[in-house]
Amino acid sequence: MPRIVCVAGARPNYMKIKPVMDALERRGAEVVLVHTGQHYDPAMNDVFFADLGIRPPDRFLGVGSGSHAEQTGRVMTAFEPLVAELSPDLVVVVGDINSTLACALVTAKAGPLLAHVEAGLRSRDWSMPEEVNRVATDRVSDYLLAPSPDAAENLRAEGYRDDQIHLVGNVMIDTLLANLERARASDVLGRYGLSRGGYGLVTLHRPANVDDPGVLAGLLKALGEIAGRCPLVLPVHPRAAGRLADIGVPGGVRLVEPAGYLDFIALQDSARVVLTDSGGVQEETTALGVPCVTLRDNTERPITVEEGTNVLAGRDPERIVATVHRVLDAPPAPRRPALWDGRASERIADVLLGGGTASTHPRPTARTFTI
Ligand code: UD1
Ligand code: UDP
Repeated sequence: MPRIVCVAGARPNYMKIKPVMDALERRGAEVVLVHTGQHYDPAMNDVFFADLGIRPPDRFLGVGSGSHAEQTGRVMTAFEPLVAELSPDLVVVVGDINSTLACALVTAKAGPLLAHVEAGLRSRDWSMPEEVNRVATDRVSDYLLAPSPDAAENLRAEGYRDDQIHLVGNVMIDTLLANLERARASDVLGRYGLSRGGYGLVTLHRPANVDDPGVLAGLLKALGEIAGRCPLVLPVHPRAAGRLADIGVPGGVRLVEPAGYLDFIALQDSARVVLTDSGGVQEETTALGVPCVTLRDNTERPITVEEGTNVLAGRDPERIVATVHRVLDAPPAPRRPALWDGRASERIADVLLGGGTASTHPRPTARTFTI
């Protein structure tokens, strides 16, 4: 039975790792769940384990917050002896956070095979820490598990070989579809006094949007104007909490605690429009068919624009307001990309275990070619 370490560290990891763990365990793999501790507040962490029925982590690294170098280094230092102790056949990392890259780098040097779930996404914006994490993680991975054709095409264009690239679909949508009925039973709308289709939902946490008070003030000004037409509710990411309090929010914009998974899916599902800089929320709104306005100049998830409900509005307040009015007047038609069908994690298990076990699967030769 192969031993597979699955890594999670922050809010957007939990809904990605859960279906992968389940699919691997259903096929008899021994899964060890390692939590790096990058996110630790109950509202950013514990609620997801409860909502999604994820068992407590088998190992907890407890790294917490810090600069990029501190956080990445602490994960590496804690993960390296764990890999030596557990001697897994395979390590699975998801997404693009610092914990993803840190565990990928350790694995690449320690010897086990490495699989990256969500490989190939590219914003081509090197000011995003996540872009560095994506590109570097892919470079040391053996299995590149792509969520969409554009991601697979990016990998091919970067010189990766076909036997490394696996177009498997979107695991985040596996979790969304598996939990949609439970989410629709949430009482969150009643608790916040909201009605279906009667509000807009906002999330903000990208450093480029929330770290600079001037940029954040501009975004809040835009939100204030939009709230005149459609009241807004904004579950506050801890990164943005202090600055939002300092600047103050305009009338019609309601700040609430970060939402749990089921509540947040319910809030998206019933929203008239979602305004966000989140990666995962662009995907979930596309799958739900809810209009999404992304407050960024670019996206590593272009399929949500080309085949989904997402519109890029940038950061300019006037352009954001105009875009939201346009979207409210004529909402984009809902469509769901192929392979966002709830079975991505089964296809991942096919790739990782299908032809045998991870330990007998031929190692792709990712580390021996140059790009
Ligand atoms: C991280 C990821 C980002 C992801 C986001 C999801 C990196 C580089 N960034 O950003 O890609 O989109 O998570 O939400 O990995 N904090 C708390 N409590 C917590 C966690 C964080 O208060 O439980 C605060 C701390 O002040 C911390 C700050 O938020 O310094 C930033 O946390 P960090 O994990 O470094 O980055 P995020 O902005 O959360
Ligand atoms: N999410 C949540 N509560 C919130 C905001 C987001 O449950 O208050 C969920 C959202 O549904 C999605 C994931 O968190 O599943 C996205 O994480 P986040 O936006 O923090 O990170 P990103 O996707 O940008 O890396």
